[in-house]
Amino acid sequence: MTPTRRDALRLLGLGAVAVAGAPGCSLLAGTPQPQLLASKAPLPKPFTVPLPVPEVAKPVRSVGGADFYELTERAAEVELLPGLRTGVWGYGGTFPGPTIEARSGRRTVVKLVNQLGEPTVLHLHGGHNPPESDGFPTDLVAPGASREYVFPLEQRAATLWYHDHRMDYTGPQVWRGLAGMFLVRDAEEETLPLPAGERDLPLLICDRSFAADGTMLYPGLAGRPGVLEAYMGGVLGDVILVNGAPWPELRVSRARYRLRLCNASNARAYELSTGGAMIQIGSDGGLLARPRTVRQLRLAPGERADVVIDFSAYKLGQHVELRNLAGEGAQGKVLRFAVDRDETDESSVPARLSTVEALDPAKATVTRDFELSSGSMHGGTGWLINGKPFDPKRMEARPKLGDIEVWRLTSDVAHPVHLHLDAFQVLTVNGERPQGPPEWKDTVELRDAQTVEIVTRFTDYRGRYVLHCHNLEHEDMAMMAAFEVV
Ligand code: C2O
Ligand code: CU
Ligand code: CU
Repeated sequence: MTPTRRDALRLLGLGAVAVAGAPGCSLLAGTPQPQLLASKAPLPKPFTVPLPVPEVAKPVRSVGGADFYELTERAAEVELLPGLRTGVWGYGGTFPGPTIEARSGRRTVVKLVNQLGEPTVLHLHGGHNPPESDGFPTDLVAPGASREYVFPLEQRAATLWYHDHRMDYTGPQVWRGLAGMFLVRDAEEETLPLPAGERDLPLLICDRSFAADGTMLYPGLAGRPGVLEAYMGGVLGDVILVNGAPWPELRVSRARYRLRLCNASNARAYELSTGGAMIQIGSDGGLLARPRTVRQLRLAPGERADVVIDFSAYKLGQHVELRNLAGEGAQGKVLRFAVDRDETDESSVPARLSTVEALDPAKATVTRDFELSSGSMHGGTGWLINGKPFDPKRMEARPKLGDIEVWRLTSDVAHPVHLHLDAFQVLTVNGERPQGPPEWKDTVELRDAQTVEIVTRFTDYRGRYVLHCHNLEHEDMAMMAAFEVV
């Protein structure tokens, strides 16, 4: 581990007792849970701010079958809460960053220009990325420097997102605004009559907290890695932002909308519901084989879901709230749709969406165990995998290129686990097979004391990647393991 982390842990007194765990759960007593950070700023009434839609990035040039983009990270002042200015770190100075719309199999090159005062790392979450462009947590882009990330996008259509991935600092840097959406489209999906154009909407959901003057609060010390001890379980904001707006409202027509939901929060999981039916058509790794009707949808940090909502089921003038059943009070609200006009709607959701190959665990060459827990590290407390804090030089696994492997993950408290390079399928949760046909995921939430088995195939690239918890405070407090595809 780096000396900086060791020093910081001592400095923050992380050797002391952990904060109280979930009440009434003796097994987990003492294990830190996510903590709410209260805003001091006056907060707007829900549903008074219109939903913004991030700008779609334009390539600076397109040559040789590739699109070249430039993303400049810089500090900017924006209005997130009505009447207040908030300093953010944004890709292109915006929060969220611009949406990149790319095509499967078409090379997309992103030049990241760092105009911030801190090193950064860019990661395309859900991307099937070559190792040198995957944003390994120590592949830093120094202040004033730039780096080209090459994304061949040899993968199916899916809703991806990009965000900062700097070792020990991902939590505060994403919190300050370094996140955006990245859509991959393909020909297969385009033959489907799904809602498109203005009725195909990315919704990046995250929670934040604000000081009285509008500044974002984060319980860390400037220039120090990690988070204050009381928040090592994760930081929960008390303002729910969608595309950077607090509890916004979207006017919709009586037609079908495709909503690409992305949980970009540091530590908050959502249980999303409109009270009516939503049709889920996609997951982290693109379209499901068949649509499934859901009444609520759980999204842990890092996870995405594609849903279609048919607003023709509602009357003109009706309001439809997207709620978070896992949140209390204002954190139980997310977004409101105001049904305000009729529109002819040629879209539909076909009974068959795509083909999802089932990865066969019988073909796995090995089963590996990854145990996620809190524990002591360097005289303090941190989050560990197999009893060890992240060391970028230690390879926890060396899968062979082309091999199928089963990875068995075990949790103490809840951890949304994310695997880089290749998507996976969930085989079992506490020994039970999940219902329905297989789907492609890149992040799976382990609840308290669970064992989840995933199966994946390591394809196309040899090199170093990571597996980590996507609760960003856990990630920064070392819940990460490097592996090398050989
Ligand atoms: Cu969304 Cu390794 O991260
Ligand atoms: Cu990722
Ligand atoms: Cu975790």
